[in-house]
Amino acid sequence: MNGGSRVRRSRSGPPPVERAPLKDEAMFRELEQQVNVCVKCELSKSRTNAVFGEGAEDARIMFIGEGPGQEEDVQGRPFVGRAGKLLTQMLEEIGIRREDVYITNIVKCRPPGNRDPLPKESLACRDYLMAQIAYVEPEIVCALGRVALQALLGQDVSISSIHGQGQRWKGMLFVPIYHPAAGLRSASMMKGVRDDFAKLKKIIERNQ
Ligand code: URA
Ligand code: SF4
Repeated sequence: MNGGSRVRRSRSGPPPVERAPLKDEAMFRELEQQVNVCVKCELSKSRTNAVFGEGAEDARIMFIGEGPGQEEDVQGRPFVGRAGKLLTQMLEEIGIRREDVYITNIVKCRPPGNRDPLPKESLACRDYLMAQIAYVEPEIVCALGRVALQALLGQDVSISSIHGQGQRWKGMLFVPIYHPAAGLRSASMMKGVRDDFAKLKKIIERNQ
């Protein structure tokens, strides 16, 4: 990052929680292996590759999308299709390099035909996500779109009512924003997505 917001955890102070880094890293790799062969829900039957997540494991900001799409399923990487390219671009526009954040999804396996994940599938996958959050220890969790918002906070929250606003959540700052895929649907939604990323940038700057 050149003169932009700080996106990786500071190394100057003590870590927020004492831990044995090597052991934890080995456990995290083990978690990824578990996800790759997981059969805890029906989505395992139709996936090509599970998509664990990727990015800086000491990131201050974690982005959580809904689930892998077709391209993600093929490559085994999150946000690498059209919506993913837009996410990368939106991050660059607010001065953040994709490799400095951590990116994952509510469900790690692609829902057939890109349907929404079922609540029971999100629930089956939740322990993996919570373990990722515990390991990365982000200060800010950014939910991309309605599905991620509702899976994390509860079923009846509407994205249009709280997008771009931060709230405290499990000791972190939780910021739901419009999903970049929404921006691919219309020019007005593209503006909505871009405005949300601008708000996210302000929230990040205020919190450092
Ligand atoms: N949309 C998502 O929600 N997640 C991805 O990984 C890709 C597209
Ligand atoms: Fe397992 Fe999650 Fe994939 Fe379901 S979506 S099979 S719980 S990794």
